[in-house]
Amino acid sequence: MKPRLISGVQPTGRLHLGNYLGALKNFVDLQNSEKYECFFFIADLHALTENPTPSDLKKNVFDLALDSLAVGLDPHKSVMFLQSQIPSHEKLFWILNTLTSPGEAERMTQFKDKSKTQAKSVNLGLLNYPILMAADVLLYDAEFVPVGEDQLQHLEITRTLARKFNKKFGNIFVEPEALLTNTPRVMSLDEPNKKMSKSRPKGCLFLDDDAEIIKSKIKKAVTDSGKEIVYDPKRKPALANLISVYSALTTWSTKTVEARFKKMSYREFKDRLAELIIRHFEPIQKNKKELAKNLDSVKRVLASGAKTANEIANQKLLEIKKKIGFLVY
Ligand code: ADP
Ligand code: TRP
Repeated sequence: MKPRLISGVQPTGRLHLGNYLGALKNFVDLQNSEKYECFFFIADLHALTENPTPSDLKKNVFDLALDSLAVGLDPHKSVMFLQSQIPSHEKLFWILNTLTSPGEAERMTQFKDKSKTQAKSVNLGLLNYPILMAADVLLYDAEFVPVGEDQLQHLEITRTLARKFNKKFGNIFVEPEALLTNTPRVMSLDEPNKKMSKSRPKGCLFLDDDAEIIKSKIKKAVTDSGKEIVYDPKRKPALANLISVYSALTTWSTKTVEARFKKMSYREFKDRLAELIIRHFEPIQKNKKELAKNLDSVKRVLASGAKTANEIANQKLLEIKKKIGFLVY
């Protein structure tokens, strides 16, 4: 049997290059490697922590489903589903809450950051966020979780909860491992010391940006002093970020990119990079437009994925409840 992997993305707006290189492109590569049994879901319960309006939530869910299919996730190869359609996630979430101390949740970097950036709408969901994430993963006995670097802390809590439960009630959970890409932390184009994030749209390159916008954003991207194209993350972090993007989109090593562009100016390198991104995004944007013509077929993909996911998750929840001492028939 192939090892199982699972990952989710929140439907909270347009996907950017960081989401793509840190998560989605990797999902597609892992799926196509045929080495894993793959489960990918839209984390719509998690998205509630940002208090979306009902129409925004619906739009974002469809958008993310379309993006996922457009980049190459294939419902014939991967199970694709919507988190809110699998009730066992919320049930295991409650159980895992009772094994977590407030301090463990309060020290999470994402919680601390979001408590500041969303100061007006801090809610308990933000605090409990990693516990729901643990439930998402543990229900499926997933051995691997492909994510960007910012999610590693949450995965650590997941592993801790698996261990705690196993110790208290008997061995039932697998401790999952993260799968990072070579670009686990794509940096912002305008502030290369911060990660690219949709909470700072100015530094983002979005998957649906058109050619002119891509050219202009790359042209304006901050670069370091000096002239030479060298990959040096310590001394030239902004340029290193651009070189690693080039490397991720070509599968050339950063050394190869450096060697190929050594004699060029920053401007020439940026022009080439913009061209590469435009060429890479074009077919994705075209696919998305085509897929958007048939939203019913997107709904069918999610319904079929939910059926498979519910079977696995319900069975696992039953075993969990038995271990805890609930009366189950
Ligand atoms: P954002 O930080 O923009 O809100 P999400 O939290 O929705 O993005 O992240 C979705 C996925 O993309 C996660 O697996 C996350 O680790 C990954 N990811 C987000 N930002 C980056 C980045 N700058 N570099 C690499 N991966 C990222
Ligand atoms: N927290 C992840 C993010 O911000 C999304 C997510 C929710 C997730 N549940 C998960 C990722 C389970 C991996 C596994 O992107």
